[in-house]
Amino acid sequence: MIKKFSILAAGLLSVAAIGTAIAHEGQNPAVKARTSIMQLYAFNLGTLGGMAKGEIEYDAEAATRAANNLVVVTQIDQSAMWPAGTDNVSDSSTRALPAIWENFADVGAKGQALADAAVAMQAAAGQDVEALKAAMGQLGGACSACHKAYRAPQN
Ligand code: HEC
Repeated sequence: MIKKFSILAAGLLSVAAIGTAIAHEGQNPAVKARTSIMQLYAFNLGTLGGMAKGEIEYDAEAATRAANNLVVVTQIDQSAMWPAGTDNVSDSSTRALPAIWENFADVGAKGQALADAAVAMQAAAGQDVEALKAAMGQLGGACSACHKAYRAPQN
């Protein structure tokens, strides 16, 4: 009985693994590009957030590098990365809500708010940990304001 169950479980696991592989292989290149940008945001924000929380030892140079990277990534023109038909209703491999395509101006404004917050962090990150912490709210807030409005929760 136990053996049967584990065979069944292994079968289910491999079906799930195949499902994931298909989702990534078939993913629209524009979706791959924009989620890669998001990953770059998350990696660099992780460094700054870790220092703000005291989980990573504050290091002015490393903090400045992370903030510089954020500024650079916010300067990438994403306009070709959000083509029609890549919302989460039309395409199950994305979490982008259809509301994006109805509110491009607001999405752009939220993108600009992130760019501004990254510049503010760039000025603060190398000063000291208190300045970094003070700039963190605006930066993290810019990410979550857009996710709240335009990103579907994780399945
Ligand atoms: C202007 C809107 C906007 C801003 C600003 C924004 N995001 Fe996103 N983010 C999205 C949307 C929409 C998605 C879903 C994209 C998709 O699945 O196609 C997303 C997805 C993500 C993902 C998942 C990527 C993946 O591999 O599926 C991460 C991680 C992420 N964002 C991190 C961040 C961080 C960190 C910031 C701030 C530094 C940020 N985002 C700022 C809109 C935004």
